[in-house]
Amino acid sequence: MTTLPIPADPTALPQADIGVIGLAVMGENLILNMANHGFTVAAFNRTVSKVSHFTEGRARGLSIIGANTLEELVGLLRRPRKVMLMVKAGRPVEEFIEHLRPLLEPGDILIDGGNSHPSDTQRRMQDLAKDGLLYVGTGVSGGEEGALTGPSIMPGGSPAAWPEIRPIFQAIAAKVADGTPCCDWVGEGGAGHFVKTVHNGIEYADMQMIAEAYHLLRDVGGLSAPEAADVFREWNAGELDSYLIEITADILGKTDDVTGQPLVDVILDTAGQKGTGKWTSVGALDAGAPAMTITQAVYARYMSALKTERVAASAVLPGPAARPAPDRATLVEQVRRALYASKIAAYAQGFQLMRMTAQESGWTLDYGSIARMWRGGCIIRAALLGTISDAFAAQAELPNLLLSPPFVAAISEHQQAWREVIALAALHGVPVPAFSSALAYYDSYRAARLPANLLQAQRDYFGAHTYERTDGPRGEFHHTNWTGRGGETASTTYNA
Ligand code: 6PG
Repeated sequence: MTTLPIPADPTALPQADIGVIGLAVMGENLILNMANHGFTVAAFNRTVSKVSHFTEGRARGLSIIGANTLEELVGLLRRPRKVMLMVKAGRPVEEFIEHLRPLLEPGDILIDGGNSHPSDTQRRMQDLAKDGLLYVGTGVSGGEEGALTGPSIMPGGSPAAWPEIRPIFQAIAAKVADGTPCCDWVGEGGAGHFVKTVHNGIEYADMQMIAEAYHLLRDVGGLSAPEAADVFREWNAGELDSYLIEITADILGKTDDVTGQPLVDVILDTAGQKGTGKWTSVGALDAGAPAMTITQAVYARYMSALKTERVAASAVLPGPAARPAPDRATLVEQVRRALYASKIAAYAQGFQLMRMTAQESGWTLDYGSIARMWRGGCIIRAALLGTISDAFAAQAELPNLLLSPPFVAAISEHQQAWREVIALAALHGVPVPAFSSALAYYDSYRAARLPANLLQAQRDYFGAHTYERTDGPRGEFHHTNWTGRGGETASTTYNA
């Protein structure tokens, strides 16, 4: 058996600032990040052999102490004890909480750093409060590299936990140019995990929009992957500057070792997902928030997964007649503009969703602070988030980002190209669900009169569901006997 580097002198215990459970790549890297910032970390993993493997490998020589059991881990911690779970969401989180609960004392803090569903976090916080335990559900974004060098961290839960965990979390978080850490308290209950879920929904939209831009460059513009790589690299030097554009340029420039072709060309076009994009969409449907582009991005992944059916259908279903390709430089610039305008609309939807859900959940979210947390470390980090944080600094209660003057200006400048690109895509038979839904969101939001008057008339016609009149006060409902055969009784009015 391997000897664990637990100090021989038991009077030196407890000595760890925090305990971390779960030595998969995110957990290991977060521990190393904490140790690199001067914290002493106790580490545990369900498969205990991983602990010594870690302490004798990557963690050797650092202030990281392995624990063989949960009891040992808890015994190593300074009070109030802080235990962070970096394990799979769902059952594993539930099981560790059950095992840790009797080992902890009132005032101790349990932290879940995985992608848990916000409602699970909310429930766990309320339940653990019965034993006086503090609970934090925190978003951690940035992938394995971010975890090691500085992620964006979005904690929420029991407010009393924040002053205790703040020094560790803000030390290990990414910092933007002025030194501000990409980590701040989000709010009570499931607020931290909710904000991380919306981050991921925006991530889905962002990735899908980039994929659509690439599709247009490839199938309408005829650009090869390396040529598209140069385009994305150039875009990254301007207003589209972001982590996802940067890695897209790298990806498109990579050659496959086996075939010598661009690697992207030999990757199968079916997208996987772990579900956070779907959670965002389901949350948006529940909140009545029109997060159309985020949901379209989820549908686009579902559609991509139907590979066999698509291949069969491609031999049967006709597309448009071949059309001449537009001038390459013009196309590239128009797609860039369409991508930026679509991106603004997708972010507007994400912030609108947060606003609507916060109202329902009784959370006070600081949207400027959320934008600041997303400026560095996380997957959606982008220059645009600086503009978004400025927009909320100028108007904390901004109802929709589309109304912020810099975005009004950007969309006025880009909307013509945005419309032309979507029309061009339709004429060439290239699907652009995220671009199109982003434009539909924009055009719907700016429409003083939508055709919902007809929907209300139809509802009243077949179900006596009533309608409000343009020349009457809001809240006054009318019913018309449209056919002369119906009665005068209207159904009750309520909105699901
Ligand atoms: C992050 C990411 C991360 C997410 C993966 C995979 O912020 O670091 O959002 O949390 O789990 O990117 O997500 P999908 O498998 O759903 O694409």
